[in-house]
Amino acid sequence: MSKILIFDSGVGGISIYKAIKEQLPNADYLYLFDNAYFPYGELEPEFLIERVCQLIGYMYEKHKPDLVVIACNSASTLVLPALRQRFPIAFVGVVPAIKPAALQSKKKKIGLLATPGTVSREYTQLLVNDHAQGCEIDMIGTTSLVLQAENKLYGHTVDLDAISNVVSKWQDPDNSPDVVVLGCTHFPLLVNELEEVLGEHIQFIDSGMAIASRVKDILGGGDAVADHGHTGKAFCTKTQAQKKLTLLFNEIGLSQPLYIDV
Ligand code: DGL
Repeated sequence: MSKILIFDSGVGGISIYKAIKEQLPNADYLYLFDNAYFPYGELEPEFLIERVCQLIGYMYEKHKPDLVVIACNSASTLVLPALRQRFPIAFVGVVPAIKPAALQSKKKKIGLLATPGTVSREYTQLLVNDHAQGCEIDMIGTTSLVLQAENKLYGHTVDLDAISNVVSKWQDPDNSPDVVVLGCTHFPLLVNELEEVLGEHIQFIDSGMAIASRVKDILGGGDAVADHGHTGKAFCTKTQAQKKLTLLFNEIGLSQPLYIDV
């Protein structure tokens, strides 16, 4: 049974975990979120590289995963070279789905909704240069939506006005992109709310299915029948009241998040 570590700053990686688990129901899952340093989209690049390497180093020593998914665009657009250099295991990064968006956009106008970190990365600009030539790219970098997604999964009410304020420039169908890339793993968790405030003139694209297929290819496929008894282990870096979150984790086959002192 392959052991897969999924890593994010918070609950965003759950959108990726679910997509992978659908394709590989019987893998052994570890989910780590770095709530001590959340949100990642606002951290200094050098700090973020060292922090992620430190955490992955800890998990590598203790749990020996076969494959690590960096289920965070803010981190993947920055830290993958350092991780690959330091650890002899397979890494799959989650980065904005610019290429499929460029192929699907009829208007040749694409939106990128991501964190401030991701929209400012050189890596993101290279993705645009390589895969979206001839398209206009309109980027919104936001931490507010990351917080809203996190709140939602912790059981708090989502503030639709706050979401609406962030994406207001896309509300007019005549001036908006027709395809918007959800370039933060937190944002698929808010897709219903985004549809509600933006209407139906926008198609949203995320990286979940593509990442799941990539993981399956690397690990060589999986068993079709799910073993519902198996529970993955979740870990966090800051203790907190987690009743609601624990319930959610249990529902999707993960344990109560265990605090690690890293
Ligand atoms: N979910 C992450 C991403 O994909 C990080 C969000 C944050 O912590 O700012 O970018």
